[in-house]
Amino acid sequence: MRWLVTGGLGFIGSNFVRLVLRELPDVCVVNLDAMTYAGNPANLRDLESDPRYAFVRGDIADADAVREAIGSGVDAIVNFAAETHVDRSILDPEAFLRTDILGTHVLLEAVRERGIPRFLQVSTDEVYGDVAVGASREDAPLRPRSPYSASKAGGDMQTLAYFATYRAPVLVTRGSNTYGPYQYPEKLIPLFVTNLIDDEPVPVYGDGLQVRDWIHVEDHVRGILHVLQRGAIGEVYNLGGGNPRTNLEITEVLVEGCGRSMATHVRHVTDRAGHDRRYAIDTAKARALGWSPRIAFADGLRATIAWYRHHESWWRPLKSGDFLEYYKRQYGSRTEIAR
Ligand code: TYD
Repeated sequence: MRWLVTGGLGFIGSNFVRLVLRELPDVCVVNLDAMTYAGNPANLRDLESDPRYAFVRGDIADADAVREAIGSGVDAIVNFAAETHVDRSILDPEAFLRTDILGTHVLLEAVRERGIPRFLQVSTDEVYGDVAVGASREDAPLRPRSPYSASKAGGDMQTLAYFATYRAPVLVTRGSNTYGPYQYPEKLIPLFVTNLIDDEPVPVYGDGLQVRDWIHVEDHVRGILHVLQRGAIGEVYNLGGGNPRTNLEITEVLVEGCGRSMATHVRHVTDRAGHDRRYAIDTAKARALGWSPRIAFADGLRATIAWYRHHESWWRPLKSGDFLEYYKRQYGSRTEIAR
């Protein structure tokens, strides 16, 4: 079998490619990746010489690049390619619309034209928006509130529309906040760990009492594979870790794990515009399919801190050049606030 994985040089995508090549000897992977700032060849360097792995550089919104990557045909497409960072979407929304909506559309057109037997859209719990109480099931209304989550919701809706309209063989997974090795250091956990290693302060938005449900990337990619192989066509599956935590609780573990103190290293700064207070998803449907997360949060977080400690040569180059410009743009205008 030949699977096309898009965005396979990113965080979750590269962990998925590694899982597939490790566990499924009869699957070859073609990785189509645009190599944006978050697509890092170092994430899969160890697999570059694997005969079951091929790389094509290209953008999913470019139909020619998608055609080239599909070649004589593929048995499945798994779409990880996306702009994913909420704070970047607040500064520059356009790239999110292009990749997350138009790119998904281009892939869906290829699925329709070429008769590709499976298409899995990797999505996010953020499409449900702010969830004050309870947990969103897959049939909950979508109420995205950031340019990022609105773009992902657009991709999900196009995907489900292709099932309703053309009977395209699609699946959607909606993962919760993901952490683990190879995550670009703009997101909460890797940003804070790498800042703390460098003895820099960490910027907590607002009161830090926002709640996210954390899932280890290994559990998340196993869930995606499980849904790809066993999910019912046209269905959506939530993949949540079942570890709801406030940002301050996470920060405390990271600060302690890096040998720093809350008093000296935490800065409460101007909140994110439109900041969703809480995400929570009901995962009964994916569990009924036979998947459940395995990695205990305390173990996963400890191992992730250790991974960043031991892989400075991976993340240090990422926190230079353009990243410093981004950091200044994103954080320079945030002022410190009282708790
Ligand atoms: P993030 O990793 O950006 O994921 P998402 O916004 O997609 O959930 O952020 C996780 C939480 O951490 C979110 O509530 C915003 C907060 N956060 C901070 O407080 N400071 C930061 O510098 C970042 C990047 C995030």
